[in-house]
Amino acid sequence: MITQKKQWPLDGQLSKRRSLQSIFEQNKTVYWPSSAKMGDNHQESVKYDLLDSSVKTIINKAQAIREKAYCPYSKFAVGAALLCEDGTIVDGCNVENVSYGLTICAERAAICKAISQEQKSFKCIAICAEMEDYFVSPCGACRQVLAEFNTGMEVYLCKPNNDIVKTSVTKLLPLSFTPNWVSFST
Ligand code: THU
Repeated sequence: MITQKKQWPLDGQLSKRRSLQSIFEQNKTVYWPSSAKMGDNHQESVKYDLLDSSVKTIINKAQAIREKAYCPYSKFAVGAALLCEDGTIVDGCNVENVSYGLTICAERAAICKAISQEQKSFKCIAICAEMEDYFVSPCGACRQVLAEFNTGMEVYLCKPNNDIVKTSVTKLLPLSFTPNWVSFST
C-alpha cells in the first residue's frame, strides 16, 4: 500500500493565511525560492517615502485593488497596478476559476484592462500580495506577458507593510523571447 504524506487541503488554516509560510515549513515543503528573499542581485530594497509620487500611487492602487480580488479557492488576493508612459494608472486583481488553470493573475488582469483602454507603453508595475515575510513576484506566465510590452519595465514588489523591493522584467525573465524575434511584429 502506498501512503503519502498529506499536505493539502489546509483545512481550517486558510483563515491564518498570512502565516502560510509556517504551515509549509511544518510540512517540510521547500516552497520559497531564494529569489523571494532579499540580498541577491536581482532586486534592491527601496524606501516607500523616497519613491516618486507616481510610483507611490501605483503601490497604493495595487494594495487597494486586492480588496476586489476574486480568489475563493486560494484566498490569496493579489493586486497590481501599471504606470503607463502618459501617466495613466491601470490596476488589476486576480480572478480565479473553478477550473483552476484558467485563473488570471493580477498582473495579466491589469495588462488586459490597459490594452482595452488603448494603453500599451508601460513604465512600471507594482504588485502587492499579503505575505508578511516574503515578496511575492510574478509567475512565469505573467513575466512573459510583461516582457511582451517592455522588458525594461520596473517591477515593485510590495509587502502589506509597504516594504518594497525594486526589480525589472529583464531581471525576472532574462534572455526573454520578445516580439523583436518574430518577423510579423510591429
Ligand atoms: N497570483 C497573482 O495574481 N499574481 C502573482 O504574482 C502570483 C499569483 C494569484 C494567482 C492565484 O489566484 C493566487 O495568486 C494563488 O496562486
